[in-house]
Amino acid sequence: MSDPRTLVGIDVGSSKVAVVVAAINGDLVTVRGCGLARHDGARKGVIANLSEVTEAVRIAAEEAEAMASSPVELGAVGIGGSPILGVQATGSVPVTGKDHTVSPDDQQRALAACAQVNVPADYQVLEIIPGGFALDGQSGMEHPIGMPGTRLDASAYVLFTHKTHADTVEQAVNRAAVAVDQLVYEPLAASQAVLSRDEQELGCLLVDIGHSSSEWLVFSEGTVMASGAVPMGGRHFTSDLAAMLKTTTAAAEQVKRKYGARLDRDCADTEAVEVPSLGGDGLQVRPVHFAAEVMYWRARELLISLHQHLIAGDLERLPRAGLVLTGGGARLEGLVDLAEEIFGYRARIGTPRGLAGVIDPVSDPEWAVACGLIRLQHERGPEYSMAHTSKGGIMTWLKHTLGEFLELGGGA
Ligand SMILES: Nc1ncnc2c1ncn2[C@@H]1O[C@H](COP(=O)(O)OP(=O)(O)OP(=O)(O)O)[C@@H](O)[C@H]1O
Ligand SMILES: [Mg+2]
Repeated sequence: MSDPRTLVGIDVGSSKVAVVVAAINGDLVTVRGCGLARHDGARKGVIANLSEVTEAVRIAAEEAEAMASSPVELGAVGIGGSPILGVQATGSVPVTGKDHTVSPDDQQRALAACAQVNVPADYQVLEIIPGGFALDGQSGMEHPIGMPGTRLDASAYVLFTHKTHADTVEQAVNRAAVAVDQLVYEPLAASQAVLSRDEQELGCLLVDIGHSSSEWLVFSEGTVMASGAVPMGGRHFTSDLAAMLKTTTAAAEQVKRKYGARLDRDCADTEAVEVPSLGGDGLQVRPVHFAAEVMYWRARELLISLHQHLIAGDLERLPRAGLVLTGGGARLEGLVDLAEEIFGYRARIGTPRGLAGVIDPVSDPEWAVACGLIRLQHERGPEYSMAHTSKGGIMTWLKHTLGEFLELGGGA
């Protein structure tokens, strides 16, 4: 089958913007180009300097379009950070299809009804991830369309975003002359790039360790069961190290990337690292073991905090296929072993998989979101984009689906 679609994924992270351009042919996703631009325009996971982030989008988009020889004018954009809430919800509608069978419209309305939960007034729906359906109380239905019944119940995991957060991300992209096709929750996008179907079915915990925060999703039986964010990412490791070694952020970043959090390195007791002193008065020598120990304690704090979220949500038995760490922060040496020790599951690093074409430059975990955005757009198809975005986003789609029947989002 020939499919001429070219798709664009734009990850607006808190330390970089990554853009991937891919061509879709049937199920083959061929990366044609990519671009990356670092920026310092985000604070605590939200955009603090719009023009700096816009400039990064522009640079990364230009780089990707030059490599792909294809214009970057429209793309799916990742959104994350703490202004995002997720809830498990159910919705119920009467079956209105021909001969009392479930129509596609009934299914959509049942899912949309799941979004009718109380959230703060300034939040809007970001995603409705279907969990399953029940017909007249009979549960376990994945595809109810065409089945006979009178009442259709849906369960879904619904994500809400703070309106200003979504508007700001969209602005940053629009000002770089790129239109937003759909906003996608970042770890959901990452999951589509790095997880296998088996992992999603069996159950796993995905953690996207970025620069400012670490966002997690629990999958079970092929769907999302829970999500959350810990306000800790790679930036915190670097700043700990800079403070403890009394050195510059740039030097601390290098030490972090080189030595990681391994306490069992050979010769660790005697090895030393030379770093500039803060204030610029020469170099100083510090034991590598000390630096690794600083990283180790921060890594423990992050992982224990994530583990506590699972325990608090009574979710710790769900990830039977283990833990998958992605995002740039997942590259910290020693993190996977420590995660296995703390969680008691198998852990691995999640890198983008199943792609063809220019895959080398997008093979590190910090490309998971941008690559996953391509996969998700491909899976959802062009109809999804048109229904959800062209006339005002998922809110418009919901209002269109439910008419005057429901008041949506923000507890309004
Ligand atoms: N080899 C490495 N070891 C440890 N940390 C690393 C390594 N390589 C990159 N990082 C860290 O990864 C972080 C950036 O990751 P990423 O690009 O996924 O973040 P982001 O998407 O910009 O941020 P966020 O997801 O929080 O918005 C930086 O803090 C960087 O120091
Ligand atoms: Mg990120």
